[in-house]
Amino acid sequence: MTWKNILLILFNLMTKPTLFICQSCCFSEEHPEGQPADGAILLERVKAGQAESSNEIRVQRVACLWACDRPCVVAFTAPNKPTYLFSTLATECAPDLLEFAEKYTQSKTGNLSYQQFPEGLKEVAIAKIPYMKL
Ligand code: FES
Repeated sequence: MTWKNILLILFNLMTKPTLFICQSCCFSEEHPEGQPADGAILLERVKAGQAESSNEIRVQRVACLWACDRPCVVAFTAPNKPTYLFSTLATECAPDLLEFAEKYTQSKTGNLSYQQFPEGLKEVAIAKIPYMKL
């Protein structure tokens, strides 16, 4: 592999839209030992759904997104696009996240109107953080 190829791979990784999923979120404080956290279940469902689609978003597990009192929590981000933080997500919303990922990835600006949101994401807590111009 040449240095040019390595740099291209790194560039693609750094500029690819990313969906961060908190793998530690739990709906209950009494999390049964040996059972996966609700966030981990959501993560696996998203990955399984992504394997069956042509979606190009990078899915990245994270330990915490600091909205622990509102599980499950995920964030979409990409260079030159706003960041969307979704919380109070059910583990069944993986298809909605993948639908949002498709629209977010396809959008040149990343600005999606509420009407464009998948039905399953219209009733959850949402934050939109503008991107920073460099
Ligand atoms: S445990 Fe999921 S946001 Fe902190």
